[in-house]
Amino acid sequence: MRVLIVGGGGREHAIALSVAKSSRADKIYCAPGNAGISEVAECVAIGAMEFDKLTEFAVANKIDFCIVGMDDPLVGGLVDKMEAVGIRTFGPRKNAAILEGSKAFSKDLMKKYGIPTASYENFDDYDKALAYLEKADMPIVLKADGLALGKGVLICNNLEEAKAGARQIMLDKKFGEAGSRMVIEEFMTGREVSVLSFTDGKTIRIMTSAQDHKRAGDGDTGLNTGGMGTFSPSPFYTEEVDKFCKEHIYQATVDAMRSEGREFKGVIFFGLMLTPKGPRVLEYNARFGDPEAQVVLPRMKNDILDVMEACVDGHLDDVELEFEDNAAVCVVLASDGYPVKYEKGKEIKGLEAFKGKSDMFCFHAGTKLEGGKVLTNGGRVLGITAKGANLKAARAKAYEATELIDFDGKYMRHDIGKAIDEA
Ligand code: AMP
Ligand code: GLY
Repeated sequence: MRVLIVGGGGREHAIALSVAKSSRADKIYCAPGNAGISEVAECVAIGAMEFDKLTEFAVANKIDFCIVGMDDPLVGGLVDKMEAVGIRTFGPRKNAAILEGSKAFSKDLMKKYGIPTASYENFDDYDKALAYLEKADMPIVLKADGLALGKGVLICNNLEEAKAGARQIMLDKKFGEAGSRMVIEEFMTGREVSVLSFTDGKTIRIMTSAQDHKRAGDGDTGLNTGGMGTFSPSPFYTEEVDKFCKEHIYQATVDAMRSEGREFKGVIFFGLMLTPKGPRVLEYNARFGDPEAQVVLPRMKNDILDVMEACVDGHLDDVELEFEDNAAVCVVLASDGYPVKYEKGKEIKGLEAFKGKSDMFCFHAGTKLEGGKVLTNGGRVLGITAKGANLKAARAKAYEATELIDFDGKYMRHDIGKAIDEA
């Protein structure tokens, strides 16, 4: 099988490694890929949003199966474009990717089908939003409707902050057109869990759980980022939580999308909060999490191409997912100053220590190859993942492995997975 993966971050590196393990993969391309991905796939210099170039490439290179890893091309309709030129593609079509592409859509869907989530109102008028805020309980949560690189959510502690936030989102357009509409949502408390799933539009299969660390600094301080590290499984994802979510959230979401004429094939990522009143959906994503994929996929025993094909062809009911009975921890090595301002182009040393290892991995997020050297090329640079018999062992090994890598301005959190001590 000739496979094309679209994207170029740590998640796509994890997907590429899984595809490379499949005996069915004869040739793997990745657009645009990165320095790490180029070890297992041929990287092609086409951006993930260059749809015409991507479809032309896929046809010219007789691609049998395309996997779209990133949210922007999914929401923009790349799957539809690929299908239109006869390329079988894993991921939701545009009309289903709206589950991630519009928070107002996903909130309305949950309300209509009784899927547990925070109470909310949608607004496309700034004055009406302000009037609502005047009467609302604080703290309160404001969300730009569209994609905003995971940054379009503001938690406001008082009315003043909320008014300023609404202005930033709706008038100043801090998150661009994503802020033309805004969701105002009840503030909830509890632990967060990420649950990834495969679905063929009818059947849903749940992967092992994970937890992300979104804030930049130790102890969950500092700005929100794309994710500074993950661990899997989450000890807080108990059998009771699993049972509740299976009864009220997972299948209900797939069925709701089908009822709306928006059959969803691909990965649904459930961002859950375990509140005192029970699990609630914080958000949906239409793709693997990054860096959740980096701790979930290395633990999956199935051939990823078999599972993805079953999603596209509609026979996921034939597939049972299997995960290793162990744990994994991923520590992100970022460039100092991320997510605000940071330098690029620093040489990365120590990468060879990870070659050929089956229990530790160095996933590339923002790197590039130049003159035979691997250089930093983004805020999140690498994701160092280790597997262990349990979370503590995996965490110790992952942090040990971070010492093998060196580059100017290397920054990481030191408490990834620390929450497990309280479990
Ligand atoms: P989202 O992009 O919707 O997942 O939101 C980003 C982060 O904001 C989440 O991971 C939570 O930490 C926080 N958040 C979102 N919605 C709420 C809410 N209703 N109550 C409390 N925190 C929230
Ligand atoms: N790590 C969170 C996300 O991928 O959206």
